[in-house]
Amino acid sequence: MKQSEAKKRIEQLRAELEQHNRNYYIMNAPTISDFEYDILMNELETLEKKFPQFASSDSPTNKVGADTTTEFKQYEHKYPMLSLGNTYNEGEIIDFIDRVKKVVGEDVEFVCELKFDGASISITYTNGKITRALTRGDGVKGDDVTLNIKTIKTVPHSISAPDMPEEFTVRGEVLMPRNVFNKLNEERMQLSLPTFANPRNAAAGTLKTLDPKVVASRELECEFYYLLADSGIKETHFDNLLLARKWGFNVPESARLCKNSAEIVDFINYWDKERKNLPYDIDGVVIKVNSQLQQRVLGYTAKSPRWAIAYKFKAEQALTELKSISYQVGRTGNITPVANLEPVFLAGTTVKRATLHNADQIALLDLHYNDMVYIEKGGEIIPKIVGVDISKRKENAKRVSFITHCPECGSELIRNEGEASHYCPNYLHCPPQLKGRIEHFISRKAMNIDGLGEETVNLLFNKGLIKNYSDLYDLTYNQIYELEGFKEKSASNIINSIKNSASVPYPRVLFALGIRHVGETVAKTIAEDFPSLDALMNASVEELTNIDEIGPKIAESIKNFFNDNDNITIIEKLRKAGLQFSDSGERNVTKSNILEGKTIVISGVFTRHSREEYKDLIEKHSGKNSSSISKNTSFILAGDKMGPEKKKKAAQLGIELMNENDFLELIKE
Ligand code: IVH
Repeated sequence: MKQSEAKKRIEQLRAELEQHNRNYYIMNAPTISDFEYDILMNELETLEKKFPQFASSDSPTNKVGADTTTEFKQYEHKYPMLSLGNTYNEGEIIDFIDRVKKVVGEDVEFVCELKFDGASISITYTNGKITRALTRGDGVKGDDVTLNIKTIKTVPHSISAPDMPEEFTVRGEVLMPRNVFNKLNEERMQLSLPTFANPRNAAAGTLKTLDPKVVASRELECEFYYLLADSGIKETHFDNLLLARKWGFNVPESARLCKNSAEIVDFINYWDKERKNLPYDIDGVVIKVNSQLQQRVLGYTAKSPRWAIAYKFKAEQALTELKSISYQVGRTGNITPVANLEPVFLAGTTVKRATLHNADQIALLDLHYNDMVYIEKGGEIIPKIVGVDISKRKENAKRVSFITHCPECGSELIRNEGEASHYCPNYLHCPPQLKGRIEHFISRKAMNIDGLGEETVNLLFNKGLIKNYSDLYDLTYNQIYELEGFKEKSASNIINSIKNSASVPYPRVLFALGIRHVGETVAKTIAEDFPSLDALMNASVEELTNIDEIGPKIAESIKNFFNDNDNITIIEKLRKAGLQFSDSGERNVTKSNILEGKTIVISGVFTRHSREEYKDLIEKHSGKNSSSISKNTSFILAGDKMGPEKKKKAAQLGIELMNENDFLELIKE
């Protein structure tokens, strides 16, 4: 590979991995499997070794993926919280053992443990009481989730052992058992809330929930695997595990002392088979050097200890029959093929469907109807087909060919050059596109119209009360009240939240319009260069492509959107409804000094504005937002379901709780 090519690929891999880190650690919504992630990371490591001139301490190969958010207060870890080197290959485990023995130059004992697939936590105890629980964060600083951790039954609040040091730290993994996960997702599905992709994301997401009561209801567990203290603990890792167990920590019985590679390989093979019988997910095993003295000799890399390694299991696969293929039409007309399968059990759930992404994927697999296909769970909740067992194909099997016409409206499908997806061009009349655009418009990240969900949109659409999202602003209280299942309160909530959406800032309005290829980030970028919709409507493709990150595909799509007369009619209706069509620095504009010098904590759930909108209002009226209650807090903007710990703390410090109505009155909004 040429230097210039390597440089390009390294940059591309770094950007991709950073995005996957954000998806995994912050959004708790990965889009690829761990295995696919590790392949990318490996490629980057190999390239950086081969082309050291492009190495950088800022590369994802040298950093721990950060999980910190702005919602929690952050504190430094007393002992850095590192990651683990990993491999999928038993041979590399043998190499690791040999390397360790060579460096140490004497006999080495290893501890084999399960690699729990959850969210890591570090809890410090002082005089036997929890003083602070931190997430891993970037390895140096983590989010303070003490209140949430205290709701977990398997975490002792206070311990009294005569031999415990004054201060010590335990580390472990917060897990959601699979049965709790399945129940939670079912409940969320019924409430039309987004489901979690897997128990790990659910555990990590729950740990970052702001309301400890919600955390308590999620039945999390914690398994501990590490004890740290400046003094007063044992000299070997295994003895420390026993000590922590004796003090009352939930230290798994599965940990084993192993003397040689044969015992380690046995441990790996045993758990690869047995893991399906555990109540929670593990994604591998961890092998650690037992003696802390030897650990110190081996030391650390920037990211992980040289005295430990993780062996990761490959994703479980299942073989089942492809029955048929359905084609779904998205809000932008994108067609997604979905495989309907003979139901089969895989990694804790029964799988009936698998994504096929696009026509290329079908061609690549050379899929035939009734093929026996291998499925695997990746980062997403819907598994994918990773291969076909051709030996089981029947002689007269029919090859799957991609549909040519829209399954919903019959229009001929289009596939643009360079794009992977087919799409239905019937933008104006294809029902799932019309409904999908309305659902997108009202969604939380767009206009955040509460109380309206997929079902209500369906109802309003089928009754002919709304044909596009601008019709929402014509809806009357009576029209909603008369719908099946609506009462006075729910009807007026919807009308109010439609009205309130007029204050949603311009970049979100731009995102809400649902222009093909204009996602949340692109909308924000565009709004910076074109701070009003009118300016954007008059922009040429060339002016648009002058913006960094906006290529011809997005620019064309924007131009096409505004060249459409029906869209212009919709936009004019939205303008009349008073939506924010310009930025005019609105978000940074000071509206008053009423809150000057005041530090305000927002807590609980609100009905009139979202938390983000309240944060914005506080800043506009010269106040300061803070996430934790202290003696400097001026008052708490308190919604429903404020956590009991926060309430207690506020009462102890004598801090006023103000409800949202009083707050809005105070700032005269
Ligand atoms: S030891 C310096 N032991 O794996 C030692 N980690 O990829 C680092 N994990 O952040 C941690 N089970 O969240 C250790 N038995 C185990 C583990 C374990 C799961 C997680 C932990 C860590 C990640 C590293």
